Amino acid sequence: MEKTIVYYYSRKGSNKFLAERIAKDLNCDIEKIRPRLNIFFFMLFSLNFGIKKLRHQPENYERILLCGPIWMGKFIPPLKSFVKKYKNQISNLVFVTCCGSTFKNKDDKFGHGLVFNIIKAELGEKCVHCEAFPIGLVLPDEQKDDSDAFMKTHLNKDNFSGEILDRYEKFMMKMRIV
Ligand SMILES: Cc1cc2nc3c(=O)[nH]c(=O)nc-3n(C[C@H](O)[C@H](O)[C@H](O)COP(=O)(O)O)c2cc1C
Repeated sequence: MEKTIVYYYSRKGSNKFLAERIAKDLNCDIEKIRPRLNIFFFMLFSLNFGIKKLRHQPENYERILLCGPIWMGKFIPPLKSFVKKYKNQISNLVFVTCCGSTFKNKDDKFGHGLVFNIIKAELGEKCVHCEAFPIGLVLPDEQKDDSDAFMKTHLNKDNFSGEILDRYEKFMMKMRIV
């Protein structure tokens, strides 16, 4: 049995960047989750048509890292389908998101804390950790409250530095121990 795999969904690239970086640093497998109907408008309003068959079976891994965005305070359809479909094959899951909500707002209506609670409720003790990397961490102070800048900014190798990188390295230390 392999140790770890990263499954991810990303629309604009930030979670793809994060997932690829994690898989590279852990030297583990990675697979993109492909919705059957990849139509953003449908998914945004929680219309869920399921996901395509995976190439790597979750049951072959001791630990799963699931990485993807948050939209409108929801556990988005491709990730939700993944958990629902493979729940019985999952023994340890870590949820990671590059999202818009800040640490301060994590428990507000659109905060990542609510999504963490949904995943924990669905998976119980199988969900061993949740980690957020708010995109605002890569914005300069004067743009941290600028919603336009938030929407236009995506993680990449040039902006993945400073506070977000510090937090990522702490997170990876945990991932290497567990
Ligand atoms: C329509 C829309 C709704 C969003 N809603 C939320 C939200 O409720 N909470 C949040 O934390 N981020 C929200 N975001 C921000 C995304 O989670 C963030 O931009 C994420 O990094 C996008 O990931 P991707 O580049 O991998 O697609 C939203 C983004 C979009 C486009």
